[in-house]
Amino acid sequence: MKTLFDQTKGNKVFEPFELAGITFPNRIIRSATFEGIADEKGKPSDQLLKKYEALAKGGVGGIITGFIGVGQQGKASSNMVMLNEAGNIEVLKKLMNRMHELGTPVIAQLNHCGGQSKEESAHMPIVAPSKISDYKAREMTKAEILEVIEEFVQGIKNAKEAGFDGVQIHMSHGYLLSEFVSPRMNRRNDEWGGSTENRFRIVKMIFEKARKEVGDYPLIVKVNGYEPLKNGMTIEESEKIAKLLEQVGCDGIEVSNGSLKAGMATIRGQVPWRMIVAQNEKLNKMPEFVKKFVGVISNKAVPQPQPKNLYNLEAAMAIKKAVNIPVILVGGITKLEEIEDIINNDKFVAVSMCRPFIIEPDIVNKFKTKKQTQTKCIQCNFCIIGCEKSPLKCYYGKVPVSNS
Ligand SMILES: Cc1cc2nc3c(=O)[nH]c(=O)nc-3n(C[C@H](O)[C@H](O)[C@H](O)COP(=O)(O)O)c2cc1C
Repeated sequence: MKTLFDQTKGNKVFEPFELAGITFPNRIIRSATFEGIADEKGKPSDQLLKKYEALAKGGVGGIITGFIGVGQQGKASSNMVMLNEAGNIEVLKKLMNRMHELGTPVIAQLNHCGGQSKEESAHMPIVAPSKISDYKAREMTKAEILEVIEEFVQGIKNAKEAGFDGVQIHMSHGYLLSEFVSPRMNRRNDEWGGSTENRFRIVKMIFEKARKEVGDYPLIVKVNGYEPLKNGMTIEESEKIAKLLEQVGCDGIEVSNGSLKAGMATIRGQVPWRMIVAQNEKLNKMPEFVKKFVGVISNKAVPQPQPKNLYNLEAAMAIKKAVNIPVILVGGITKLEEIEDIINNDKFVAVSMCRPFIIEPDIVNKFKTKKQTQTKCIQCNFCIIGCEKSPLKCYYGKVPVSNS
């Protein structure tokens, strides 16, 4: 296959590089992927360590954890790792010691799920910047906003104590901080809403307070480059947000898009109807042929966002132009050829992938030896539904027998 870069200049994809003061062994990072491996108190089991070991041995350049909660009210599922519980720090220390033995940096992604939290997991009312029809949450009080800032700062301190190489603050996919910066989701008319600066205030305060506590500890952010929804984030608005992030001392930006309301915009590919039905007690009682029919019809009826590959490229390019901090591209990267083009032509400092690592934790080694140059992932997206109740795995388009 013809590569898109000048071979004589050398291939930087598998060379070490530095980002935010962290040395990564190569440029292919595992993007945050919810693993669903924790008990009710958010304590992960050894299964998480095993998953990370497989990724490390498989050549991954670095791992961004699945989202880790900073506070009870921001919980979206009962199997979510939590870093507000002091007891969990010790467990994560063990994981980090092992990862450092293997030479793989790990960044903790910290999150508050905001309006996308679930009452049955949080065991308390759900909150968001504003009460809007995208979700059932009520509007946060000013006191609650200040509490969440403290929760993030404590989460960052705890991540540092646990030995994580850095933190990624989750500000994308329609969770609390992306709700705050989004003109669609933040309709407040106090100092926390309105202008871009006001909508960004919560993030600014997290950075200011965290920096006092953790100094130059690496802090990166995952942003929505755009939201394909009415009044959602535009690329122009996300450029402004990126500049503000740079001003507050953010060390790097990963560019994604979407929210639950925007359906499949974040991950693209098939709508996993059959898996949704299988996970739902009532729907799963339907006769088998009806379930199959629902799967086929629904995928025809619901338009899949296009393109399916490299769909955050335009927004990430715009953000890269707007700032001087490193930018990472995620979303629909499926081929070595694409990665070589991105890295060797200096489009982005690194790329990150999620689904390709679920089916093949050793995809980087396969790419490196050219044993394989493309992911085997078929974008069935059953994984995203499965991890709500069971540990993350690839279903390869097959409904698990015990659930069907
Ligand atoms: C099973 C699954 C779990 C995910 N969990 C997270 C998460 O915890 N945090 C996050 O920022 N993104 C999460 N994502 C989104 C991915 O990080 C990534 O942005 C998206 O899947 C596009 O990348 P890909 O095409 O390489 O899969 C998840 C995606 C999937 C499929």
